[in-house]
Amino acid sequence: MENFDFQASTNILFGKGQVSRLPEVLATYGKKVLITYGGGSIKKNGVYDDVMNVLGKDFELYELSGVEPNPRLTTVEKGVALCREHNIDVILSLGGGSTIDCSKTIAAGTFYEGNPWDLMGNGQLVEKALPIVTILTLAATGSEMNGGAVITNMATKEKLSFGSRLVVPKVSILDPTYTFSVPSYQTLAGSSDILSHLFENYFNQTPNTMVQDGIAEGLMRAVYHYTPIALENPHDYDARANLMWASSLALNGLTGSGKKGAWSCHAIEHELSAYYDITHGIGLAIVTPRWMMHVLNEETAPRFAAFGHRLFDLPLNSESPMETAKQAIQKVYETSKAWGVPMTLGEVGIDDSLLEEMATQAVKHSAISTDGYVPLSVEDVVSIYKQSLTEMTF
Ligand code: NZQ
Ligand code: ZN
Repeated sequence: MENFDFQASTNILFGKGQVSRLPEVLATYGKKVLITYGGGSIKKNGVYDDVMNVLGKDFELYELSGVEPNPRLTTVEKGVALCREHNIDVILSLGGGSTIDCSKTIAAGTFYEGNPWDLMGNGQLVEKALPIVTILTLAATGSEMNGGAVITNMATKEKLSFGSRLVVPKVSILDPTYTFSVPSYQTLAGSSDILSHLFENYFNQTPNTMVQDGIAEGLMRAVYHYTPIALENPHDYDARANLMWASSLALNGLTGSGKKGAWSCHAIEHELSAYYDITHGIGLAIVTPRWMMHVLNEETAPRFAAFGHRLFDLPLNSESPMETAKQAIQKVYETSKAWGVPMTLGEVGIDDSLLEEMATQAVKHSAISTDGYVPLSVEDVVSIYKQSLTEMTF
């Protein structure tokens, strides 16, 4: 195991009705609140009304609405201007990863003299940030409990990220009933994203990390168990609660600390959403089994076989792990397909015209060519994209 520095400082207020604690939470930071949210789902499902009802007239409220899925730099810039103009004390972010990521970048950008885009890949430039409180409405990214943010620059077709401890949300309210209204497509995307965060850490070069891997397997099992239940009955409280908590724990450092390496599927997917504005989790679901097959070799087969044995009860034959490994990858692919995820790039509107360009950017924007579970060249990434154009056969 590698050395690490782990801190999970977000105060999580989990469960039904926790929104009632919001006034006392916000009052810790001040009176002037910038509320950020997306395209309006919170106005349909009652979250916005709940927040307004509990906050009453005790706070000075400002709003930044319309944060896009794959949040744009231009929206961050609007938020920074609002925070500076009104001398905001705290950001209250209502939504999924996009709204929270946008809020984090606004929080840091408010005190940064240059353009917030400079912060991408340069979290060390963040010296100060506004405090952030979130009310999560979609189980997916883990942004509610970590210091990462991903922003899209439409002008340059780049989707890049930064990380800083200073933008970790101070408090996140996780009320599973707020995810009852999440449509099937976003439920699928969310679960695929949670699984991917776990896979990215699990299929990793650092050996002997049984603690992290055991936690990851438990979380994967929960996601595989509860996703079809949430799809079947979107109001199933326990399914939504387990998915929500899995989202936060999958990417708060618990399963990734003590490991080194680069996240391959995220690097490959981020270019798909940068160029085609697709839903992050769906892109990951498509790319992941192709990536798994691409990196499967004599050396990695025992790991995939052990995963298949622990997650899908596949028979383990340590003398010939290759067969079990292939079956495990088939299970990953077929489970996503059975849930209803579109499993080819064509189904999300992507053809073969920009594959080389996106692959070049994926390698440029990440360390996958040196630190991937199996290091990947531009040609490798092109091959993974090409495999993603057609159905997988086993
Ligand atoms: O915009 P509204 O109207 O709110 O609708 C949203 C949006 O259309 C809708 N939605 C959210 N909660 C809902 C709901 N609809 C009905 N009921 C609810 N309760 O869902 C759509 C997607 O929302 P979004 O916030 O974009 O989804 P997600 O949470 O998956 O966030 C995706 C973004 O996070 C980044 C992704 O790249 C992408 O930009 N990521 C952030 C990470 C992080 N900060 O740690 C890590 C991830 O790997 C990821 O890269
Ligand atoms: Zn992700």
